[in-house]
Amino acid sequence: MQFQWYPGHMTKAKRSMQEDIKLIDVIIELVDSRVPYSSKNPDIDQLANGKSRILLMNKYDLADPARTEQWIRYYEEKGYFVTKVNSKNGKGVKAVHNVIKEACKEKIERDRRKGILNRPIRGMIVGIPNVGKSTFINSFAGKACTKTGNKPGVTKGKQWIRLNKTVELLDTPGILWPKFEDQSVGLRLAFIGSIKDELYNIYELSILLLEYLQENYPEAVQEFYEVPQTETTEGQLEEIAKKRGCIKSGGELDLDKSAKCLVDDFRAGRLGAMSLELPE
Ligand code: G4P
Repeated sequence: MQFQWYPGHMTKAKRSMQEDIKLIDVIIELVDSRVPYSSKNPDIDQLANGKSRILLMNKYDLADPARTEQWIRYYEEKGYFVTKVNSKNGKGVKAVHNVIKEACKEKIERDRRKGILNRPIRGMIVGIPNVGKSTFINSFAGKACTKTGNKPGVTKGKQWIRLNKTVELLDTPGILWPKFEDQSVGLRLAFIGSIKDELYNIYELSILLLEYLQENYPEAVQEFYEVPQTETTEGQLEEIAKKRGCIKSGGELDLDKSAKCLVDDFRAGRLGAMSLELPE
């Protein structure tokens, strides 16, 4: 399957990101815990330009817990401050304050030595579309936050959310682009629903998902749909169609419908908490 990306916006996005990064102390990057490699922007390391780096493993409720722990260690070894969050129900979100403090410890210390006290740490949320940036900002900032901005000479044209005395966040997240050139990345992002549905064939996508699931989580599909094991993935989709009553008006099985059913159930975590990648 071939995916068409949107590289047209890339240069503009990159330039505006470079400008924003100059204003901040710490970059808080979100990834989807089911695909911590594919949902990570490839150019951010270069753009980060020595700033502190926090990686938030968002949507950990949907991911395989053992694999998430492996990924946390993997990124910690690469120099990130890493923590897992569920922005939807708020789990792990409060702890991000401490992670920010830890990540900016040296900077706070440097400021203090220079006699600069009480200058808030400035952060910026970044990530590819659909990783949960807006949900995280809402959960993290909550109702208590106040918006600041347009302070002369410092934050011209920028709005900041003051979280408390010590932390401010740029109010609009930076939208990053995924790894355009890698088709397997495209496939995994399609599995989790981060690529427009019109860009791929749902039947083919579901067959590829079934192949992955049978190899990595062999009983999950049979248990969830209460269908028998079949020799082929195509046969498995037919069983799901029968079980779920996906039938066309002529009585024929509606495999596109069962394909959509499977993909939706997977995306919502109904087949279980599963991950699509392991660290190399
Ligand atoms: P973005 O700004 O990065 O583009 O992402 P956004 O916050 O819009 O979130 C994309 C989807 O991911 C939303 O679902 C949101 O609810 C969901 N989401 C965000 N964080 C988490 C999380 O930690 N766990 C889970 N399970 N889901 C999360 P949606 O279906 O588009 O909207 P909604 O119906 O949930 O409101």
